[in-house]
Amino acid sequence: MGKVTVITGGTSGIGRGIAEKILAESAAEDRIFVTYGHNEDKAQAFLENLPREKRSQVVLVKADMSSYEDMMAFVAELKDQADHIDWLVSNAGVSTYAKYEDYTFEEWTRIVNTNLSVPVFMVKELRPMMSEGGSILFTGSYAGQQAYSSSLVYGVTKAAIHFLTKSLVKEFEPKGITVNAIAPGFIETPWHSARTQESYDRINKKIALHRFGTVEEVADMAFAVLGNGYMNGSVVDIHGGYDFF
Ligand SMILES: NC(=O)c1ccc[n+]([C@@H]2O[C@H](COP(=O)([O-])OP(=O)(O)OC[C@H]3O[C@@H](n4cnc5c(N)ncnc54)[C@H](OP(=O)(O)O)[C@@H]3O)[C@@H](O)[C@H]2O)c1
Repeated sequence: MGKVTVITGGTSGIGRGIAEKILAESAAEDRIFVTYGHNEDKAQAFLENLPREKRSQVVLVKADMSSYEDMMAFVAELKDQADHIDWLVSNAGVSTYAKYEDYTFEEWTRIVNTNLSVPVFMVKELRPMMSEGGSILFTGSYAGQQAYSSSLVYGVTKAAIHFLTKSLVKEFEPKGITVNAIAPGFIETPWHSARTQESYDRINKKIALHRFGTVEEVADMAFAVLGNGYMNGSVVDIHGGYDFF
């Protein structure tokens, strides 16, 4: 078996871009396990859109990452199908636009579980399978660096992911595995499908480059971080100069 990559939430947006980039650069014997949460049609579209010769390298797995049990079932499947992991990308994430005063404990818990708690335990479970010199990448967010987000719980979970990234360096030191995160600003993905033109215009005014980033720009950066042997404990911003002027 060649290089093995695992990526959660890899059928849409940023995760899909990273999966496609890794596949484009892959050798025939490499494999990539791509998870999704709910959207079967999108998962199939991701697969069918790949060059035919790349499709057999992909294992698509449905796993609800808000659920510890689903994550553990995914881990069991991985242990069954792969004997090692080289690159692990924890990307699946969710948010809410509910106002703080309307928060329920259940909704808070669902988002914290998906964005933070389940990834913590997934990485813990997969640690023994990680190869020497492997690479872990979290998708954080610039909303976890600056408190600009309209979603309090989202920003809090992403700030925690950035701290987790730095904290895990010590845990993975014995096998020389690097742990990094990317912190994107506003990136054009289905995440923003409900956004109005007025909202786009308002945000674009605050970005020095006056546009949202593309999935390809983020995927290229993620791929470079994953493959860099000396980056460790870094949280790399990519936001086009958001709020810098
Ligand atoms: N777009 C941005 O501006 C931006 C900026 C900063 C950070 N990010 C981060 O980037 C990551 C990807 O976001 P995106 O913009 O690419 O969004 P997206 O296009 O909506 O993709 C989200 C992906 O996560 C999966 N997912 C969602 N809930 C899940 C669950 N409970 N279990 C398993 N998978 C689940 C989705 O699968 P299903 O559709 O099948 O559920 C999908 O594959 C997130 O962590 C997000 O916080 C995005």
